[in-house]
Amino acid sequence: MSCRIVVLISGSGSNLQALIEQLDAPAEIVGVIANRPQAYGLQRAAAAGIANECLDHQGFSSRETFDQALMARIDSYRPDLVVLAGFMRILTPQLVRHYHGRMLNIHPSLLPKYKGLHTHQRALEAGDSEHGATIHFVTEELDGGPLVVQGRVTVQPGDTAETLAARVQGVEHRLYPLAVNWFVQGRLRLSATGATLDGELIAASGLRMEDHS
Ligand code: GAR
Repeated sequence: MSCRIVVLISGSGSNLQALIEQLDAPAEIVGVIANRPQAYGLQRAAAAGIANECLDHQGFSSRETFDQALMARIDSYRPDLVVLAGFMRILTPQLVRHYHGRMLNIHPSLLPKYKGLHTHQRALEAGDSEHGATIHFVTEELDGGPLVVQGRVTVQPGDTAETLAARVQGVEHRLYPLAVNWFVQGRLRLSATGATLDGELIAASGLRMEDHS
C-alpha cells in the first residue's frame, strides 16, 4: 500500500521539490499545505499535479485555533507521514502529539547545536569548522525530537551566511529524500526509546548521511 505523505511549507519549497523528484514507490505526496499565500512551493506542487492549499495563519486569533484548523486540513488527506519542509511555525503540543511517530522535520544545523533561527550565522560566529542539516522526529521540544540523520558541510574561509546556507541546502536535498524513503519502506520508525532504522536504535547523535549514500 502506498505511503500517503502531506508536506507543510512556508517558503520556496526546494526541499519539497527534492522529495517530488526523489521519493521511491510506494510513496505519494497527497497534499501540500502552506501557511503563507505567497509560498513558492505551492506553485511547485501545482506543477507536479499535487493537491495544494494555503491556510494563512494570519486569519486566526491564536496558535491553538490555527493548529486545530491545520490538523483538520492535514487529516483530510489521511496521511501516513507529515513532512515539515521549511514550515516556519512553532507547533502546539496537541498537534505534535496527534502526529507522534509520523512527523519529520528538517533543521539547518547539526542538532543539538543551534536550535531556532539564524543557524548559519551562528555557526560562523562560533567559528565552527563543520555545519549541516538534521532530520528528526518531531516531539514537543522545539527542534529537539530524536535525531535520524545528519548531512555535513565543511565551513570554508570566506563563507558568509548566504554561501553556507546554499551549501547546506544542497545537502538537504539529498538528506530529506533519504530519510523519507526509509520511512516509506518501513525501515525508519519512532520507538519508545528513540528512532530506529531496521529495528536498531539510532544513536542520540543521529546517523551520518555519508555512511548511507
Ligand atoms: C530549509 O533550509 C530548512 O532547513 C529550513 O528552512 C529551509 C526551507 O527551504 N527549516 C527551518 O529553518 C526549520 N526551523 P525550502 O523552502 O527551499 O525547502
